[in-house]
Amino acid sequence: MSDSQSVRTWRVPGRVNLVGEHLDYNGGPSVPFAIDRFVTLKARPREDDAVNVWSTLPDGSRQKADFTTSVQPGDVDGWASYPAGAVWALVQAGHPVGGLDLVLESDLPSGAGLSSSAALTVGVTAALDEIAGLGLDRTAIALSAQRAENDFVGAPTGSMDQLAVAHGQAGHAVLTDPSTDPPGTSLVPFQIADDGLAIVVIDTGVSHDHATGGYADRRRESAEAAALLGLEHLAQAGLDAPYKLEDETLKARVRHVITETARVRASLRALTDRSWAQLGTILTASHESLRDDYAVSCAELDVAVETAIEAGALGARMTGGGFGGSAIALVETADVERVRALVGERFESVQWRRPATFVVQPADGATLVTGQG
Ligand code: GLA
Repeated sequence: MSDSQSVRTWRVPGRVNLVGEHLDYNGGPSVPFAIDRFVTLKARPREDDAVNVWSTLPDGSRQKADFTTSVQPGDVDGWASYPAGAVWALVQAGHPVGGLDLVLESDLPSGAGLSSSAALTVGVTAALDEIAGLGLDRTAIALSAQRAENDFVGAPTGSMDQLAVAHGQAGHAVLTDPSTDPPGTSLVPFQIADDGLAIVVIDTGVSHDHATGGYADRRRESAEAAALLGLEHLAQAGLDAPYKLEDETLKARVRHVITETARVRASLRALTDRSWAQLGTILTASHESLRDDYAVSCAELDVAVETAIEAGALGARMTGGGFGGSAIALVETADVERVRALVGERFESVQWRRPATFVVQPADGATLVTGQG
C-alpha cells in the first residue's frame, strides 16, 4: 500500500462478556465490554470491484484472499469468509460498495472466544461505510456485521459481540438490549483498576466453533422452549416457566435464561455500587448455571474457573459461547500472578497446555485512527 494518502487504519477490539451469557438470541440483556486487544485493519479503496485481503499471522507470514464485491456465500471459506461476508451483507442491503485492498494484523487470539470474528466483520463494515460515505450508525454497522456471520459464514450468533465491538468505550461496559428493534445499547461505567482490581482472561486454548455443534443446538432448544411456552423469546419467561415444561433438558435451559437475566440486573446494581465482592459472586453463579443448566462449559473452563477462585479471585466464569475459549476472573491486582501460576500448574498437572492469561481493560470500539476524510 504505497499511496499513504488514501490508506485508512482502523483499530477494532475484541470483547469479553462480563455477564448475561446466551441471552442475546433469547431477547435478554448482556454486559460485555470491548477489550484492549485489537485487529488492526489498513484499508485502501480501489477503482474496480476487486477485494484483496492480506492477513499477517503471528509468525509474520501472510495469507492472501481475493474476491469481488459480487462475492456470494460459498465462494470463499475459512478466515476470508468474514471480510467477504461483511462486503456481501452491505451489497445485499443495497449499499454502493467499491473494491478494496485490506491488510489485517491482530494481537487478538482467534478461536479464543474473544470475538476476533466480530472484530473482523465490524472492522471491514466500518471501513466500507466510511470509504463509501454510507453514514451508517454504530448499531447499523454491528447488525450488518452480524448478518455477515449469520448468513454468509453460517454462524448463528446473536448481536452481543458485534454491538460490544462497535459501541465499546474505554472505562465502560456496554449494556445491550436485543428486545427492541434495533437493539438498544447503553454505557455502564466500569473502572475497577481504580479499586485495585483486574479482569484476567484465561484462554484455555480449546478452540470453539459456533458454526456447528453445541451453540446451534442451544439456539434450537431455546426456540423450542419459547414456542412451547407461547413466548416470542425465552427471556420473557416468568419464574414459573420451568414448571410448565415436562422435558428436563428444556427446563434446565429455561432456568438458566431466567436466573442469568436476574444476574444481569444484580450485576448492574453491583457495578453502580462498586460492590466488587457481590459482582464476583454473580460471575461464579453465572458459571455454575452455564455449566449445569445450559451445559455449554467444558473441563478446561471449569478447571480455569475453580482454580482462579482457589487462587483468590473474587469470582470467575466462562465468557462467550463456551465449549472451549476463555474464562474471565475478577481478581485483586496483587493476586493476578498467583492466579496465573496456579492455573498454569493445574493445567500442566493433567498434561493440558498452559493457558495464556492476560489482564484486559475496557477499550474503545472500532476506531478510525488515521486517514480520516
Ligand atoms: C457467542 C455469540 C454471541 C452470544 C454468545 C453467548 O459469543 O457470538 O452472540 O450468543 O456466544 O452469550
